[in-house]
Amino acid sequence: RIVPVILSGGGGTRLWPMSRAHRPKQLLPLTAAETMLQLTALRMHGDARFADPLIVANAGHAEAVEAQLADVRVTPQALILEPAGRNTAPAIALAALAVGGDDTPLLVMPSDHVIGDVDAFRAAIDAALPLVRDGWMATFGITPDAAETGYGYIKVGEALRDGVHRVERFVEKPNRAGAEAMLASGDHVWNGGIFLFRADACLEALTAFAPGIVAAVRRSMEGAARRGRHILPDPAAFARSPSDSIDYAVMEKADRVAVVPVRMGWSDVGSWDALHLLADRDLAGNALHGTVTAVDTNNCYVRAEGKHVAMVGVDDLIVVADGDEILILPRGRSQEVKKLLDAMKDK
Ligand code: GDD
Ligand code: MG
Repeated sequence: RIVPVILSGGGGTRLWPMSRAHRPKQLLPLTAAETMLQLTALRMHGDARFADPLIVANAGHAEAVEAQLADVRVTPQALILEPAGRNTAPAIALAALAVGGDDTPLLVMPSDHVIGDVDAFRAAIDAALPLVRDGWMATFGITPDAAETGYGYIKVGEALRDGVHRVERFVEKPNRAGAEAMLASGDHVWNGGIFLFRADACLEALTAFAPGIVAAVRRSMEGAARRGRHILPDPAAFARSPSDSIDYAVMEKADRVAVVPVRMGWSDVGSWDALHLLADRDLAGNALHGTVTAVDTNNCYVRAEGKHVAMVGVDDLIVVADGDEILILPRGRSQEVKKLLDAMKDK
């Protein structure tokens, strides 16, 4: 059976003030009553082709992760708890070793994405599976609609089988000019950040292109402590792993990489603007959460956590009130929350 591997290590700084180190994006209910992690865990739940998920998370989030999964009655086969984040390549290596490094297919999923059409996603997995069983590494391609520089871009090559293509080139996080050129080319898709590969194929590629990561992660697993379902890699050994993403470490370099272009209502929920587009909006284009009084207000995204937000005569604003913090910005500029965090650090 396919083992879903859920990566839950990121910080999601662009969703400040809701998202922060002790309560990152994936642990928040941003698009539904369920948190992003819960939605991810439920995605393949109850489908006999999939085993119970393997979660790779920051050790500091162990209790929150356990509680959230129990809440939706998903029992993980194990929780691998990282003493510190070393990015996705080491996290995935941990998972590949935890299942035994054999030919088990792993479906690696970020814990903080929305997939509106799960049937389309499952069909894409089915399309890729024969090649994956053969040792190929598969990614899922999203039709780009902007020159985003925060994504990986894939040049779609020759068809390998129905709906599955060879990756001709993989470019992680291009600069603005590169992104614009690839968008204009019409033959590039975004990397959805979801991967399907055999554990042994993944370890083989990592060994070829990032041997330092595999060596350190292997040692950390040999010295791992096990408490029930918790696996705690040896902290000193794990700390010696270089920090790198699977995209830079492997996907840009590996040879037998396939892409399945798929329309599945994908969003990586990367910003408040993305959330505004995903949310149910009223006739005036507003998405209002919490206690909000809005008069003569249009196309606003408002989240009031524990505060009453009242507004009159404004358009195209994002307002997020949470605890002592209030974020206000015009729609379209939510990528710049990162700049705000930098500015606050200097204070
Ligand atoms: N366990 C663990 N440990 N998980 C991690 C770590 C880590 O150290 N670092 C990141 N993650 C998790 C994040 O929580 C997220 O769910 C996922 O791994 C991907 O990491 P991101 O940091 O969000 O990557 P990205 O958005 O910059 O880029 C990736 O996703 C894009 C699509 O959203 C790449 O795969 C791009 O190519 C892709 O386009
Ligand atoms: Mg991301």
